[in-house]
Amino acid sequence: MRLKNCLNFHDFRTLAKRRLPGPIFNYIDGAADDEVTLRRNAESFERCDLVPNVLRGVQDVDLSVTVMGQKLAMPVYCSPTALQRLFHHQGEHAVAAAATKFGTMFGVSSLGTVSLEAIRKQYSGPQVYQFYFHKDRGLNRAMMQRAKTAGVNVMMLTVDSITGGNRERDLRTGFSIPFRLNVAGLTQFAMKPSWAWNYVTHERFRLPQLEEHVDMSGSAMSIGRYFTEMLDPAMTWDDVAQMVREWDGQFCLKGIMSVEDARRAVDIGCTGIILSNHGGRQLDGSRSGFDQLAEIVDAVGDRIDVMMDGGIQRGTHVLKALSLGAKAVGVGRYYLFPLAAAGQPGVERALGQLRNEIERAMKLMGCRSVSELSRENLRFR
Ligand SMILES: Cc1cc2nc3c(=O)[nH]c(=O)nc-3n(C[C@H](O)[C@H](O)[C@H](O)COP(=O)(O)O)c2cc1C
Repeated sequence: MRLKNCLNFHDFRTLAKRRLPGPIFNYIDGAADDEVTLRRNAESFERCDLVPNVLRGVQDVDLSVTVMGQKLAMPVYCSPTALQRLFHHQGEHAVAAAATKFGTMFGVSSLGTVSLEAIRKQYSGPQVYQFYFHKDRGLNRAMMQRAKTAGVNVMMLTVDSITGGNRERDLRTGFSIPFRLNVAGLTQFAMKPSWAWNYVTHERFRLPQLEEHVDMSGSAMSIGRYFTEMLDPAMTWDDVAQMVREWDGQFCLKGIMSVEDARRAVDIGCTGIILSNHGGRQLDGSRSGFDQLAEIVDAVGDRIDVMMDGGIQRGTHVLKALSLGAKAVGVGRYYLFPLAAAGQPGVERALGQLRNEIERAMKLMGCRSVSELSRENLRFR
């Protein structure tokens, strides 16, 4: 399998699997517990059918949307993900460059491997900073100030990760940062010498969003301990309301799933919510964002921008979510496997394919713009 033969998500996943050491591939591919939610995320789109209208004169199709004040040329953004430098030596640079080329938004994770300032300086696309809430309130304030000074467009607080998910694939391989692989894991690294060569001959692995505040060298702190020791499971709506006030700009919560929480997000002044179960990596057995969408759009869709992520693998999945009322959708593994497979050209190819699929599906549905998509176009089984 070569890049030019990759036609869809599954092809990129196959190529990524071939290129990456097993523990890293499984870190991306895997999820929590029995991975029920991971599977459900993708399956939920299959329980919903599209009902097209024809003969509508759809020569030109407008894919643009405006979400949280950002105008996007396509209704899909690259959701923030951790550790991208491990997947390909270009890391976040590849994703930010590709997203900017396609006129869309990208996220930089708190666990990102390039600094949010460096990314902001180099790429012009709308940039999200994904934030975790720490016990240390001073640290939270300092990090927000840093993002503000850098010119980040949207603050995204992830609220589904106050403790780490039970990812058994990682426990089996010994995957952790810093690396503490077991013998089986090490053997798998030895089997991918070209990945290892690229890793050691390019820029050093760093976590620049955190390194000023957290000592991740040696055995001082691991990502697992970062989640259990530094993040604040006691965080409440009052804490978030204060953050929203301090940020005083576009602020969204990632990982909202209930109508009650969606209403609270509106009440405290958030401008967006993302229905998400973290790609199935946190609470296994939780519902898919897509399945929750209609209920939440009905409750708050006229007061806040509702987005979703999880399981998007095709342009028609995007159309289904937009038809239910999502303003835009996020993708994670959809761009991570292409990143791992081929760096920036991989991410560009994947985003280009998704854009083509959305455009083709819009034409086949008889819709000239995203605003023409509606629930009239859907039937659930
Ligand atoms: C390898 C990997 C790392 C991730 N890291 C983060 C992160 O640091 N912060 C965050 O809020 N979400 C993170 N996510 C979740 C994604 O932002 C997104 O919610 C999820 O991947 C969507 O599901 P999908 O992969 O099926 O598209 C990560 C997901 C993956 C697969």
